Amino acid sequence: MDGRDLVRSVKAVGSNGAAQGWRTVRAAWRRRRADASGLVPRGAERARVPGPVLDVEPGPGGGLVRFTRSELRITVAVNGAVFWGWDGAAPEPSYALAGRSPKPDPRAVLEPDKDGGWRVVAERVTVVVSRNGAVEVRTPGGVTLRRDLPPRWWEPVGGGAARWMQRSEVAADARFFGLGGRASGPRLRDGTYRLWNTDPGLSFGPGDDPLYITMPVQMVVADAATHLVFHDSTWDGTVTLREGEEGAGSGHDRAGTSELRMDGGPLRCWVMVGTPARVLRTWASLTGAAALPPTWALGHHHARWGFGSEQEVRRIVAGYQERGLPLDAVHLDIDHFDAHQVFTVDRERFPKLPMLAKELRRDGIRLVSIVDPAVKAERGNAVYDSGSAVDAFVRDSARRPVHGVVWPGESVYPDFTRARVRRWWGELYEERLAQGFAGFWHDMNEPVSFAAFGENTLPRSARHDLEGRGGDHREAHNVYALCMAQAGYEGLRELTPEERPFTFSRSGWAGMQRYGGTWSGDVATGWPGLRASLSLVVGLGLCGVPYSGPDVGGFEGSPSPELYLRWFQLGAYLPLFRTHASLRAGRREPWEFGDQILEHARVALVERQRLLPYFVTLAHLAHRTGAPYVRPVWWGAPEDRALRDCDDAFLLGDCLLVAPVLDPGTDRRAVQLPRGHWYDTVTEECYEGPAQVLLDAPLSRIPVLARAGAVIPVRGADGGLQLEVWAPAPGGTGGGLVVPDAGDGWDEPEIERYVTRWEGKRVIVERDGEDGASALSYPVRVRGLGVL
Ligand code: GLC
Repeated sequence: MDGRDLVRSVKAVGSNGAAQGWRTVRAAWRRRRADASGLVPRGAERARVPGPVLDVEPGPGGGLVRFTRSELRITVAVNGAVFWGWDGAAPEPSYALAGRSPKPDPRAVLEPDKDGGWRVVAERVTVVVSRNGAVEVRTPGGVTLRRDLPPRWWEPVGGGAARWMQRSEVAADARFFGLGGRASGPRLRDGTYRLWNTDPGLSFGPGDDPLYITMPVQMVVADAATHLVFHDSTWDGTVTLREGEEGAGSGHDRAGTSELRMDGGPLRCWVMVGTPARVLRTWASLTGAAALPPTWALGHHHARWGFGSEQEVRRIVAGYQERGLPLDAVHLDIDHFDAHQVFTVDRERFPKLPMLAKELRRDGIRLVSIVDPAVKAERGNAVYDSGSAVDAFVRDSARRPVHGVVWPGESVYPDFTRARVRRWWGELYEERLAQGFAGFWHDMNEPVSFAAFGENTLPRSARHDLEGRGGDHREAHNVYALCMAQAGYEGLRELTPEERPFTFSRSGWAGMQRYGGTWSGDVATGWPGLRASLSLVVGLGLCGVPYSGPDVGGFEGSPSPELYLRWFQLGAYLPLFRTHASLRAGRREPWEFGDQILEHARVALVERQRLLPYFVTLAHLAHRTGAPYVRPVWWGAPEDRALRDCDDAFLLGDCLLVAPVLDPGTDRRAVQLPRGHWYDTVTEECYEGPAQVLLDAPLSRIPVLARAGAVIPVRGADGGLQLEVWAPAPGGTGGGLVVPDAGDGWDEPEIERYVTRWEGKRVIVERDGEDGASALSYPVRVRGLGVL
């Protein structure tokens, strides 16, 4: 037991009494015992490399290259992505893919290369295979983006899953991003990152890794091009990254390296090459379009573990309303359940939930419910009984249900890797809908079992269906939450077919965006936690998960008024804008920090409301193109080295650059600008990038810049849509996209394009359509005039 284990068990005892503390000790022992008897020890292992090349067999989109001790299948797909798999690994089955793998591109052919090697030439990428099994990804111009050395396997002599290692080199100037939600990024510095979804147990800061969402997805940005590589194995593993170094003067360059070690699973990967936008578009076409949140989910959410009663919910809502503060959703945590059992209600403290929901709905406020996967193992608990009847719960290697410990005490875990179980679970949301809930917050789904020592999840030997293939928790762990998200999302689609479901999940894996978003989990209250929360949102966006945001104010304790406000100001520009905190934490309502903070928080809330049409547009663009709302500042200029290293600002869509305040006592901050002209949206002063500029950041606001020529849809004073246009640079042009809000159904309105230019001393704005420019249907407000 290390210090962390100790704190964790004390926390468990504190939260639920001594009995729960003992349960966590027992659970940890149980887990150990289960694995000791249920897992075959690895024993002696034999190492293997592919060996020399033997022959090839061309096939659609590439072909097969045979080596003495392995074979490599390469296929270029029609969407431009390249797949390769060793040892017969094919793209399917896969939890990441959104359906069948894309068709091969018949134009890509396998042909001989020099030195006995082979290559596949495609439109956007060339893949070169050496005679020993090194694989190089090159741009069509011949620049190497990534060089994989021949892989290495370790196979247990007595049989079982092979471990493997893939070492890769990237350009000396390359920077790594991604790997899921990481607290220390978004630029991933030298270090080892584990691929095992983990509840850190305590609230986390930038030094904590791994967290709830890990993914073997790397985005690598270099001068020559951006590429994304995805190793499609759900097993536990590590990625060790080392950035390269460019030789000074006559010195040599040192390549950057990535070393991926996996405990099992197929050695197969997908690679996508191009601009960041193109790479993410290809990634989305492979793993699925991001679910489109309903419009209300793009507003302000207020949550709390421990509202405790309907009266308290009403009091908080009234607090918002009396002060004229916008509020769109209230989240109810586990304390509204009956003895913490999922899909139940404590009828004493929440006697008339459907009526409360109806009242709130009348005021435009939705209720969101937490949903934890663990089911209290107790006869008479309807969910336990109905689940047992359909054999829904994970069993151990001796076919006994696996028990863990979560908030309700001894619990069992639905096996979401079985289609039948997902259907059963999906139907349970009917009870939630009847209570009036409009959205769902999936939690504790790494999955967590509290343990006084060791890992706080299920035994590795626990059995899972894995879509009928059968396997154990080593393979199922990382996709447990993804499959839970699928169950909830698909269940809701059946139950309310006319509405888009709103779900978000603490844990997940590649492809989770198909079912919704996520939030940053239990982020530590403190300035480092604030920084970490931005890192997660940017990093997840680059892995294809565009909708997320932090617990504004941090999960535990009490933020200083200044920290709370800075967090609030950041949150107002992130897709999920939610205040939330633990049972034991101080208050998080904007009026709890004094009048001055309240007035500044009001400005942030009102601005969020004004920008809602822009958020709606960004949600549609994320859904249709894979481009996240929140993008790193290098998004449009990945060749700008200074931008690649910038971790403290972000682009919100194409139009805005947001520079949050991440340090105490700040009233000015440096901002790294990409190329072009940028207006401070408050002072309307214009700056020219690329440059680093120093901007005012008084307590009342964080710097937000608009790109010259931007056309931004905003909500006008009358509530209608208005176009805010920022004057283009002298002699320049500009434009923007608008997707009008079409409600919370499935309509996908057309994307409207607007262009802007100077005509003499006037700024002209026109709708750009197939039949040329046309008149506008929205009022326009031009800003930034006269300062250029
Ligand atoms: C976990 C969640 C947190 C929630 C709490 C109680 O710690 O991350 O958001 O409030 O459980 O349900």
